[in-house]
Amino acid sequence: MDRIITAVLVGAGNRADVYATAAEKYPDKIKIVGIVEPDAARRELMREKHRVPEENCFSSVEEFVAREKFADAVINGTMDSLHVKTSLPTLERGYDLLLEKPFAVNEGEMRALCECAERCGRRVVICHVLRYTDFYRAVKAASAEIGSIISVEMCEHVNYHHMAVSYVRGKWRSEKICMAPMLLAKSCHDIDIMLWMMRGVRPVSVASFGSDFQFGRERKPEGAGSRCMADCKFVDDCIFSAKSNYLSAVRWGQYVWRCLDGEEATDERKAESLRTDNEYGRCVWDFDRDGNVDHQTVIVNFENGAVGSFSMIGGSAKSERNIHIVGTRGEVKGTFEDSRFVVRKMAPDTKAGYTETVHDLRVGGDMIGARGGHGGGDEHLVLDFVDYLNGHEASESCATLRDSMMSHLTVFRAEEARRLGAVVSIWR
Ligand SMILES: NC(=O)c1ccc[n+]([C@@H]2O[C@H](COP(=O)([O-])OP(=O)(O)OC[C@H]3O[C@@H](n4cnc5c(N)ncnc54)[C@H](O)[C@@H]3O)[C@@H](O)[C@H]2O)c1
Repeated sequence: MDRIITAVLVGAGNRADVYATAAEKYPDKIKIVGIVEPDAARRELMREKHRVPEENCFSSVEEFVAREKFADAVINGTMDSLHVKTSLPTLERGYDLLLEKPFAVNEGEMRALCECAERCGRRVVICHVLRYTDFYRAVKAASAEIGSIISVEMCEHVNYHHMAVSYVRGKWRSEKICMAPMLLAKSCHDIDIMLWMMRGVRPVSVASFGSDFQFGRERKPEGAGSRCMADCKFVDDCIFSAKSNYLSAVRWGQYVWRCLDGEEATDERKAESLRTDNEYGRCVWDFDRDGNVDHQTVIVNFENGAVGSFSMIGGSAKSERNIHIVGTRGEVKGTFEDSRFVVRKMAPDTKAGYTETVHDLRVGGDMIGARGGHGGGDEHLVLDFVDYLNGHEASESCATLRDSMMSHLTVFRAEEARRLGAVVSIWR
């Protein structure tokens, strides 16, 4: 019979909280028994939520690994640039690892983590949650029926308010702050899905184009202020207005009100913070962009001659992920948020020349509803990790370090290709 897997959260932020929710829902499968978090308020919140003993709570990884191993695994939900630094000591201490993406922010870090995991004989799974969604699982299954894949075309539209809160005002706004360009921070998931659909056919080279189209000081509207709610005459008209996005429409609270942690976040206090010291109250055109992009296209050449293309477009009205896979006998085409796709098969005897089957999964795509985040993907991922640690075969969705390494390398090379304006080989 399977054991209850015990886990320590390293970085008790938004994502760790999402994964730890599985422990509340499935107490017979996973239990949170330790917390490593430098922020005392967050540590205490999570400690109470999971009734973790005081002696198993730490403010640093160094303190944590100074103790003998007392759990099966670590769930690492720290920010991008801390993933490798905080994971290496835990692997050395003998913990298996569920690690957020991007698991490394450059090739050197990536190789250091792979080497360490291999040397220590630890199992590492990367949180490529899209692989666990009903939509992408069903699309992949359907793509087995369309002959050999010639092309995978993918697109991710990041809506304007998500773009502004995360990649302009927020934690991923510049490489100087998070160490990850937008393609890596936002879309390593999508490149992972492209490679996953190709079932082990290796990417060999990559080209990429992209730039910052909408943001940067030079595009600031004349007469705009520095803070929406303090000095800007466009406060009620601008699509990026902090007032309309964070107060009237109450979006992205987990990021915007972080600065009020520990205080009573009344509407007055929120408005005051946006007027004064809250980063999310600043004009979107006033941030240093450090060469980051708001849109980028990647073209991948595979070893068998197939091609993949992916476009990340920040600033659309609605967020949406599209995929269109063309094979030698048919095609699969769908939209994640609609949880709907069609399979067309070549049929020369028919009037149209093809048959078409509609698959409507009716699961609501990326909505956080009864099925949990990423269309249920977050929860499936944790349960699969538990199975894996219990000695079951890795599932088809499971992204081991080796799998994820291929997509991370493709992203690193794509970013290099964009900056150089050249076609770049992936393996060298
Ligand atoms: N898989 C997905 O779909 C998905 C979605 C969103 C974000 N992410 C990724 O998840 C990660 C976390 O994002 P988040 O929004 O939850 O971040 P967060 O800021 O809410 O959480 C990070 C936590 O780490 C803590 N921390 C900082 N330094 C630490 C250290 N040295 N040791 C331990 N803890 C430390 C912080 O205090 C914070 O509580 C990011 O890498 C992000 O890119 C993944």
